[in-house]
Amino acid sequence: MVVYSILILFLLLLIFSISNSQSAAQPSADEQTLLLAIKQDWDNPAPLSSWSSTGNWTGVIYNNITGQVTGLSLPSFHIARPNPPSVCRLKNLTYIDLSFNNLTGDFPTVLYGCSALEFLDLSNNQLSGKLPDRIDRLSLGMQHLNLSSNAFTGDVPLAIGRFSKLKSLVLDTNSFNGNYPGAAIGGLLELETLTLAKNPFEPGPVPKEFGNLTKLKLLWLSCMNMTGTIPDDLSSLTELTLLDLSQNKMQGQIPESLICP
Ligand SMILES: *[C@@H]1O[C@H](CO)[C@@H](O)[C@H](O)[C@H]1NC(C)=O
Ligand SMILES: *[C@@H]1O[C@H](CO)[C@@H](O)[C@H](O)[C@H]1NC(C)=O
Ligand SMILES: *[C@@H]1O[C@H](CO)[C@@H](O)[C@H](O)[C@H]1NC(C)=O
Ligand SMILES: *[C@@H]1O[C@H](CO)[C@@H](O)[C@H](O)[C@H]1NC(C)=O
Ligand SMILES: *[C@@H]1O[C@H](CO)[C@@H](O)[C@H](O)[C@H]1NC(C)=O
Ligand SMILES: *[C@@H]1O[C@H](CO)[C@@H](O)[C@H](O)[C@H]1NC(C)=O
Ligand SMILES: *[C@@H]1O[C@H](CO)[C@@H](O)[C@H](O)[C@H]1NC(C)=O
Repeated sequence: MVVYSILILFLLLLIFSISNSQSAAQPSADEQTLLLAIKQDWDNPAPLSSWSSTGNWTGVIYNNITGQVTGLSLPSFHIARPNPPSVCRLKNLTYIDLSFNNLTGDFPTVLYGCSALEFLDLSNNQLSGKLPDRIDRLSLGMQHLNLSSNAFTGDVPLAIGRFSKLKSLVLDTNSFNGNYPGAAIGGLLELETLTLAKNPFEPGPVPKEFGNLTKLKLLWLSCMNMTGTIPDDLSSLTELTLLDLSQNKMQGQIPESLICP
């Protein structure tokens, strides 16, 4: 009997401590206030209806010890309003995924305020216009930038070359109809993924400088008006698992160094 009582007591304690630790794992009170303000600025999209001070912060990534919000993972959350400045009042945000929403208008420069940002995915929205020349006012700690499948036009700005920590730069499937800074992109030596495909760029050759990107695993450059021959320089990309140069206007031979390194 005593053994059973102790066992039951132990179980109750266990259940209590589990439920208690779950309710303790919440964004801090200050950050909860900010999250509710952001939700309101976004016009209360239905998928955020669970956000409330009683606790289901779906899509919010936070440190469960300090309560600091470090990420917003909100793909397909029916967000149709521009990013409000309140987002960057979450001072420890490193991760923002707003892919597959209904964002329209220009690149959201309001994100310049997110000084700790490392990951930004705005892909699969309806953003348009030119990328800002001073896009480097985004956190220079950026490691992943995905703007794929929007309607951006004009040039890819030179300032993109200032994100020296970038591991992925994903700009495919837009309406860029100007130029991209090949030499500057070739200086982003940490890149593992680079996509510029499916854009009506001004015709031009593969930048030789891409041969410096020796950590590249994926290089997708199809359907972007490329001319000239495949430069020998690409043979230094020994980590490549995918190279796609299809649907361009290139000519000449495939360098032997590329086939038999
Ligand atoms: C807190 O986070 C750590 C690591 O992310 C995880 O292992 C742990 O289960 C979390 N604790 C609670 C109470 O959610
Ligand atoms: C939290 O809310 C989301 C969206 O409303 C829902 O899909 C999810 O199941 C909820 N999670 C919990 C643990 O209640
Ligand atoms: C977002 O776009 C999708 C597809 O274009 C549409 O079905 C949906 O109603 C839109 N949602 C909002 C909140 O505008
Ligand atoms: C969170 O942000 C505050 C304010 O910018 C900063 O002082 C603090 O060091 C950050 N914490 C972490 C873990 O980065
Ligand atoms: C966008 O690119 C990032 C890497 O930069 C990747 O992690 C993410 O899955 C991509 N988003 C989509 C919707 O494919
Ligand atoms: C190639 O460039 C021309 C003019 O620069 C442009 O009109 C055309 O749309 C581009 N074609 C492709 C397939 O990107
Ligand atoms: C990058 O490549 C170019 C031409 O292929 C070369 O002249 C330059 O020195 C290289 N830069 C670096 C930093 O490796």
